[in-house]
Amino acid sequence: MAAPARRYACQECGATSTKWAGRCEACGAWNSILEEIPREPAPRGLGRRAGRRLELVAMQGTDPEPPRLTTGIAEFDRAVGGGLVRGSAVLISGDPGIGKSTLALQAAAGLAGAGMACIFISGEESVEQVRLRARRLGLAEAAVRLAAATSVRDILTSLDDPGGAEVVVIDSIQTMYVDSLDSAPGTVAQVRTSAHELIHFAKRRGTVLLLVGHVTKEGLIAGPRVLEHMVDTVLYFEGERSHQFRILRAVKNRYGATDEIGVFAMTDRGLDEVPNPSALFLGERDRDECGAAVFAGIEGSRPMLVEIQALVAPSPLATPRRAVVGWDSGRLAMVMAVLDARCGLALGGNDVYLNVAGGLRIFEPAADAAVAAALISSVTGVPLPATTVVFGEIGLSGEVRQVSQTDLRLKEAAKLGFTKALMPRRRRADESNRAAPLAVHEIARLRDLVALLGDGS
Ligand code: TYD
Ligand code: MG
Repeated sequence: MAAPARRYACQECGATSTKWAGRCEACGAWNSILEEIPREPAPRGLGRRAGRRLELVAMQGTDPEPPRLTTGIAEFDRAVGGGLVRGSAVLISGDPGIGKSTLALQAAAGLAGAGMACIFISGEESVEQVRLRARRLGLAEAAVRLAAATSVRDILTSLDDPGGAEVVVIDSIQTMYVDSLDSAPGTVAQVRTSAHELIHFAKRRGTVLLLVGHVTKEGLIAGPRVLEHMVDTVLYFEGERSHQFRILRAVKNRYGATDEIGVFAMTDRGLDEVPNPSALFLGERDRDECGAAVFAGIEGSRPMLVEIQALVAPSPLATPRRAVVGWDSGRLAMVMAVLDARCGLALGGNDVYLNVAGGLRIFEPAADAAVAAALISSVTGVPLPATTVVFGEIGLSGEVRQVSQTDLRLKEAAKLGFTKALMPRRRRADESNRAAPLAVHEIARLRDLVALLGDGS
């Protein structure tokens, strides 16, 4: 018979192929392809033997809602959909140094404080280092049991005693290895197999598994991407290094809504919850400033006001600079193209800088109008009043389109002392209950916004 087919996997994107190449065809990464050694030969005669007959059941079951284990850290519990579910696997991924270990340790301590048996396994730090961190966070008394280990076999053996852990934290999955594979820890094969064994254990025992995963740019360590389909919940822990704010964002959740976020502030004593993020992202705003607009956004189920800042300046370069922090640069290009083509406001020869204050990343198209307002204001030198919020999606023909949850946005703005909203035209159905909590100025077309900010009103 033929020898078992060789299999190669890209350590960057996880794509597999049957031959080695210097460059991955799927993601274009160089030197990222390694051979995967199969664990056992493919089973022979598969298909000859009949499988077990499955029992088909009705959609409507009698199972109650799964109980939630809460950490007591409200922003964490919110991001995971109201608490952790037994037998679920949660991946916390983010850049190195962003604060994942700190968050995981604080969550474990919170769960232990609520009476859950918690185990924290560190593959990156020694027990002493974890203790030191716990002391710094004021968690030295927490009833979390610690171990420094990287062998999945050892970990599973240790966890296997009855009455063992209800919650297990693995920091990080890239340091774990199974000894049945030849490849080094951190390769796709190791990360995938280690995670698979740990998740299998968690499902069987009803344990909550918190996996920490680093996002990396080099090909040597497999990114958490290869795990995303294996776990129940994927959380991104993100933020600008230079800012103190951190966002925990659920991008996948089998037990709750995605796009729900938890907001934290980094302090020297660990992560603090930020229950009212709008006030924080707005910072100090007491004057009307050119090139700034407050966007009334929605993150998950929560309204959030953020300041968007733009700077448009004549460029000495042949190819003007475009620098975007916290927003999509493709989207910025679109808004600028619409300003040019539909409103006659050409920014082509200028450097354009766009910044979302506070280190938040915005994904909503509803921010288009606020970005446009900040750009226009920077060009014309006419400031938006500091008490005005802006939102609305911009279409290619220059129209300002409806966005969802208008009322929630307006209410939050009013609560924080804003008096006016520049927003898309509302639907007729909405107009019947037009008890807007602040003055509404409807903008049908982007041109109207340019006119408004051009004549100083
Ligand atoms: P750490 O949790 O180790 O990051 P990761 O596990 O994602 O690599 O945090 C990185 C550094 O930041 C560490 O030296 C501790 C420090 N830190 C604080 O001082 N306060 C905080 O609130 C957080 C989250 C981190
Ligand atoms: Mg860490």
